[in-house]
Amino acid sequence: MSSVILLGAPGSGKGTIATRLKSEWEVAHISTGDMFREAIANKTAVGQKAEGYIKSGSLVPDEVTIEVVRERFSKPDVKNGFILDGFPRTIKQAEALNNILAEQSLELDGVVLLNVPSSLIVDRITGRRSCTKCGTIYHLKNMPPKQDGICDKCGSGLMHRKDDTEEVVKDRLSAYNDLTAPLIEFYRNMDLLLEIDASTNPDDMIRQVRELDL
Ligand code: AP5
Ligand code: MG
Repeated sequence: MSSVILLGAPGSGKGTIATRLKSEWEVAHISTGDMFREAIANKTAVGQKAEGYIKSGSLVPDEVTIEVVRERFSKPDVKNGFILDGFPRTIKQAEALNNILAEQSLELDGVVLLNVPSSLIVDRITGRRSCTKCGTIYHLKNMPPKQDGICDKCGSGLMHRKDDTEEVVKDRLSAYNDLTAPLIEFYRNMDLLLEIDASTNPDDMIRQVRELDL
């Protein structure tokens, strides 16, 4: 059983490796970004609160995000391990997570930092396409689907995320550098920080994670 956080800039590959590791480890994949996008599609109260922030590339307020994660951790599957993808993203969220885990007697095995040079990020993000049904992530050049616009795995249509434009990516990167990067020191101080080179291909990223022996 593994319980980890994937920490990294937009486009570093968190979603790509999380979807593969969750099947390998048979653990829950908790992506706050995916949860918000689903809430927006379903027009829920959380979706309405989150939509404007996501569109503009800024972070959804901590109290909204923490509540969503607290509720997710009330489900029993997290006891079998989890991969947190895109949460926490601020010191306040990290402190809240520590409390949630303590309340549930759960422990983190590690925080994996995906190191990627910023020069690769815009291309990765603007070329991303994801399956509207199963969430599989593609890239027009790096990981194209066999058939244009169609998911190899389930045959559904692929979508281009609204926040995946060059303009919004700049703001997402600033939010990462200002608010999320301080978590590197936070988790290093907790002796939980592990790092991988995320500039290579996804198979190699998975190989590096396996070597961490989480
Ligand atoms: P979220 O959905 O979490 O987006 P993000 O952190 O910006 O990260 P991405 O999903 O863009 O990138 P990724 O690292 O998952 O990369 P991927 O594997 O897809 O959040 C979206 C928004 O929601 C935020 O801006 C915020 O508003 C809100 N939000 C979410 N969580 C929040 C929180 N905790 N607090 C507050 N607000 C929150 O890969 C990207 C592309 O690159 C793909 O096309 C992929 O095919 C390609 N690729 C990946 N790896 C490789 C590789 N090794 N080689 C070549 N290509 C690769
Ligand atoms: Mg993602």
